Amino acid sequence: MRVSIKRFINGRVFFDEFEVEEKNETILELLDRIRDYKDRSLTYRSFCRSSICGTCAIKANDKTVLACKTKVKDIIQNNELVIEPVDRSKVIKDLVVDHSFIEENLKKVKSWFVDEIDSEKENLQTPKEVKKFDLQTDCILCGACFFECEALDYDKNFAGPFAFTKVFRFVFDSRDKEDTQKRIETAKENLLYNCINCQKCTLVCPKDISSAMDIKMLQNSDKNPPFNDSFSNFF
Ligand code: SF4
Ligand code: SF4
Ligand code: FES
Repeated sequence: MRVSIKRFINGRVFFDEFEVEEKNETILELLDRIRDYKDRSLTYRSFCRSSICGTCAIKANDKTVLACKTKVKDIIQNNELVIEPVDRSKVIKDLVVDHSFIEENLKKVKSWFVDEIDSEKENLQTPKEVKKFDLQTDCILCGACFFECEALDYDKNFAGPFAFTKVFRFVFDSRDKEDTQKRIETAKENLLYNCINCQKCTLVCPKDISSAMDIKMLQNSDKNPPFNDSFSNFF
């Protein structure tokens, strides 16, 4: 098979082509093979190799994927695989992009417990309470939803799908004592309503989270208290 990899080196942008034997492997294993046997300078990010650390997002045949989770055979077309850095973030070298937007946007939406739980005692939750936000806690901050988000093409100040999923996560956690409307106002300051509902975030999330749905639920609850009661049928 032919693998084309977009390279960014010292301001030069070009595609490198490699002829390699197709094996039953992930894209990350393929990149390792190319780096180890064909070009030691090839640069990409990975740590956990098991869809947990969220560092290895790349674009393969025009789709944003986790390199360690995606099998080559599931994405290859006509014996060709084109690997590029993800969109909507600054490329540092080859497939490595700047991830600083993740921390910046989490700060903007105040992604932390406010007036939290009593640390002196156990803060028990029922299984039903945990189920409300359990899926959203699976977010590994890989940024895949952000890299595909079309709302960012209209305004770069949009905090991004994952950031609103974090807002959702705190709004529904019974241990968080922040006023719900206040959280939603902060989300609105970060352009909650700019989502165009394209669903790309839902399609690419490796953890099956739908940030589009989380955003819709935050919008529906805007000035519509009591928030938790109005959505109790969802859980
Ligand atoms: S549905 Fe909204 S948040 Fe998700 S990718 Fe589209 S514009 Fe972005
Ligand atoms: S919501 Fe999904 S795609 Fe977005 S950062 Fe979290 S895990 Fe990645
Ligand atoms: S290497 Fe950690 S998520 Fe892929």
